[in-house]
Amino acid sequence: MHFSQLFVALLTAAPADCQLDKLAKAAGLKYFGTAVDNPALNNQQYMRIARDKDEFGSITPANGQKWSNTEPSQGRFNYGSGDAIANVAKQTGQLLRCHTLVWYNQLPGYVSSNYNRDQMQRIITTHIQNVAGHYKGQCYAWDVVNEAFEDDGKFRQSAMYRAMGIDYITHSFKIAAQTDPSTKLYYNDFNIERCCNAKINATLAMVKTVQAAGARIDGIGMQGHSRVGKSPSKRELMDTMARFSELVQEVAFTEVDIRHTKLPTTAADREQQAKDYVDVVGACLETPKCVGITIWDYTDQYSWIPGQYPGEGEACLWDRSYNKKVAYTSVASLLQSAAEAGLRGKAVATPAVDVGEGGKVTVRTVAAEATGVGR
Ligand SMILES: *[C@@H]1O[C@H](CO)[C@@H](O)[C@H](O)[C@H]1NC(C)=O
Repeated sequence: MHFSQLFVALLTAAPADCQLDKLAKAAGLKYFGTAVDNPALNNQQYMRIARDKDEFGSITPANGQKWSNTEPSQGRFNYGSGDAIANVAKQTGQLLRCHTLVWYNQLPGYVSSNYNRDQMQRIITTHIQNVAGHYKGQCYAWDVVNEAFEDDGKFRQSAMYRAMGIDYITHSFKIAAQTDPSTKLYYNDFNIERCCNAKINATLAMVKTVQAAGARIDGIGMQGHSRVGKSPSKRELMDTMARFSELVQEVAFTEVDIRHTKLPTTAADREQQAKDYVDVVGACLETPKCVGITIWDYTDQYSWIPGQYPGEGEACLWDRSYNKKVAYTSVASLLQSAAEAGLRGKAVATPAVDVGEGGKVTVRTVAAEATGVGR
């Protein structure tokens, strides 16, 4: 194809007809996914989209597999909430990103008592062997350890850290690897997107230490929660992922939502949100080891943001009435353009997306021009 034809094809693309996972796979990613939380399972309108494999190739239980759900009292395991979502993936054939084994939050009280090293090590071992054992063979990936650091790069003084120091991380990864050898083992955190803050540096140092101690870490998950207009640039995201890529075999965006800080929003706010989403997806497309993107729920109806940050919200790609936003159309356009131009894996690829008046998306394929892709 000549460049002029390619260019025309991009501008006349009709991404509204296309779905995110289908486009993402065509563009060379492994999946485009969403979190699903238990309260949404009874909502048929919600589930029709959540179960659509062409839209979402992967689902993540938002809460169902957290410690407070899976081992609410010591040694008593309950998989009802986690299974309800894992079963959706079984039925549809979607991948399951499992989340999360060891986290300082949403912990039952007994885990936070004062234990010595051996006691804590046994508690972690029992928890991981049971939970990862229960889901063995079902998880594409496990977020083994979640959010071990404060934003200043210091270790969180969690119950696990107090008892074991950094060894709790090493131990968790070792037990997870023994329990389900074929799942990808991830470290997952937020505010590790904008290169090169103290938390990113601490994460890199931790991963090196844990690997040197003989544990396997396959992936680093960047959660990707951010605010419209204050989101990291594509360049920053790519720089960070390049640093992570030196240590692990894959990276991913695991919990993306980009919230408005003032509501109601204007058209300009919504276009800015689209640009911010496009930067995230573009950074993944241009990072060879980035396997996929998970959004932290797809509709504002089930977003955690208003509950956590009162007055902020509308962070998702669909609004609460299940209308697709400009951000959705823009992400779809970018994925479609990348698929058509074969940009993925070409180091020089730099598709630029302009979101204009009324959400009209223009994609400039700099890489196609520079490298003659498709000629
Ligand atoms: C993180 O590491 C990078 C690269 O070594 C360095 O340039 C940067 O100053 C560090 N950031 C902090 C906050 O220490």
